Amino acid sequence: MKKILVLNGSPKNENSSTLTVTKAFVDGLIESGEYEVEYVNLSSLNIKPCTGCLSCWGRTAGECVIKNDDIPSFKAKIEEADIFIESYPLFFFGMPGTMKVFTDRMLSMMNTYRGQGAPEDGKSFHGIRNPKPERRFVIISSCAYTEASTIYEPLKMQYDYICGKGEYTFIGVPQLKTLIDLKNEKKITRYLSKFKEAGIEFAKNGKLSKETEDNLLKPPFTESGYKVFLDNFWTEEEEKGKNLK
Ligand SMILES: Cc1cc2nc3c(=O)[nH]c(=O)nc-3n(C[C@H](O)[C@H](O)[C@H](O)COP(=O)(O)O)c2cc1C
Repeated sequence: MKKILVLNGSPKNENSSTLTVTKAFVDGLIESGEYEVEYVNLSSLNIKPCTGCLSCWGRTAGECVIKNDDIPSFKAKIEEADIFIESYPLFFFGMPGTMKVFTDRMLSMMNTYRGQGAPEDGKSFHGIRNPKPERRFVIISSCAYTEASTIYEPLKMQYDYICGKGEYTFIGVPQLKTLIDLKNEKKITRYLSKFKEAGIEFAKNGKLSKETEDNLLKPPFTESGYKVFLDNFWTEEEEKGKNLK
C-alpha cells in the first residue's frame, strides 16, 4: 500500500475544522484502494526549535544535530510517505507558529545555500536535498475570510520559494469554521463532497486541475450572508462575556 501522512497542525487537534476537510480529501484518495493513512497531531510531537547552527548544511549535511525530540522519527515518516499532507488553519495570513517551528526544522531537507541568485521560473530557492519526484506534498489550510484567492498569497509565496511553484498542491478553504459551527448537516455534506471528489482526482492524476483548485476556493456563503452570520456570532459572544462579569 502507498502511504499518506497527515500532519494536523491545528491547536484544536481532533476538533479542527480544517481536519474535517482534510479527512474528506483523504477519503477520496483512499477510495482508489491504493493508500493507507496515518494522522499525526502536531501538538502531540515534542519539537525543539531550530537553534540556527546550520550544521545540517555543512558538518552534518542533511542531518539535524538535535536528536532528542520527535523530528528524526517524523522526518523518516515523511521520507517514506507517498503523499505528505499538512493540515492547519491560517493564522495572521501565514502558518501557525507551531507549524513554523516544525518547518524550520525541515531545513536539513533543503540544499545548502551557497550564494546562488534568486530563483528563476518559480523554482525552489534552495532545491530539495534528496528529491523524490513521485512524492506529493499537499497543504490544506482553512481560514475565516471570504477572499481565499488573495488571502493565501503570502503563505503560497513562502511555499513557492521553499518547494518551487507547481511542486506542491495548495488547497485553501474559506469561511470554514462558520460552516461547521452552523451544523447544517446537508450543507456540510454537500460542501465536503467536493473535497472528496478532489481526493479521487488527485489519486488518479497526482495533481488537481486548475478548474478543481478554483472550485475548492469558492466560499460556502455569499459575502452578505456571511457578514450577517459573523455579526450575530460576535454579538452573542459579547453578550456571553457580559454575563461572565
Ligand atoms: C490567532 C489566529 C489568527 C487567525 N488569522 C486568520 C487570518 O489571517 N485570516 C483568516 O481568514 N482567518 C484567520 N483566523 C481564523 C482561522 O484560520 C479559522 O477559524 C480556521 O478555519 C480554524 O481552523 P481549525 O478549526 O482547523 O483550527 C485566525 C484564527 C486565529 C486563532
